[in-house]
Amino acid sequence: MAVEIAPSVLAADASRLGTECQAIAEAGAHRVHWDVMDGVFVPNLTFGPDVVAACRPLVDLHFEAHLMVVKPDELAPLYIEAGCDTVLIHAETCPHLHRSLAAISEAGARCGVVLNPHTPASSISEVVPMIDEVLVMTVNPGFGGQRYIASVESKIAAVRRMIEDSGRDIDLEVDGGITAATAPAAVGAGANVLVAGSAVFGHPEGPAIAIKELASSV
Ligand code: DX5
Ligand code: ZN
Repeated sequence: MAVEIAPSVLAADASRLGTECQAIAEAGAHRVHWDVMDGVFVPNLTFGPDVVAACRPLVDLHFEAHLMVVKPDELAPLYIEAGCDTVLIHAETCPHLHRSLAAISEAGARCGVVLNPHTPASSISEVVPMIDEVLVMTVNPGFGGQRYIASVESKIAAVRRMIEDSGRDIDLEVDGGITAATAPAAVGAGANVLVAGSAVFGHPEGPAIAIKELASSV
């Protein structure tokens, strides 16, 4: 299975985001992962849609918005308009998950569900027929640079089985604490897209070497 790398620009130099997007594009990254935080669902506060839109023309990469916000229904359309190809919403923030996912698809973007470490795989069972992606959090959301939670691997495997049973082409992404040391187990459990922030932008030899190391670790 081909594995994609999605660097999280949360860990990039915020004063030169466009240049950072270009650097990871040249280094062979497949996506730009935008960690959108509203200061309520998670304590941190990050990228508004204008920031994403400003970087959009600079690279030809897939943009994905990971919405860690209490009002995903209101914000998702703004990130689609800003140029995001995929919008990922947390199951924990969506009492009407089916409706929220349908709205993203109808607006023309790929849709996906994010599961916090405590949220079971079964919470997506009824929406598998309508999603393009599942993002399994391997840390509790809110901050970069946290330690990978290995116990989530059984859930990654359970989600992979659900995807196989569905017969649909659904990406299974992991996010949090992903490095060349932790990626092999996550991919072994069934992940095919790796989000990495600190491992890419905090690498002493730069993002290009970091992406190569990550890709060759799996
Ligand atoms: C956590 C974010 C992650 C995070 C990953 O809330 O969703 O995308 O930035 O950062 P690292 O790779 O440093 O754990
Ligand atoms: Zn993320």
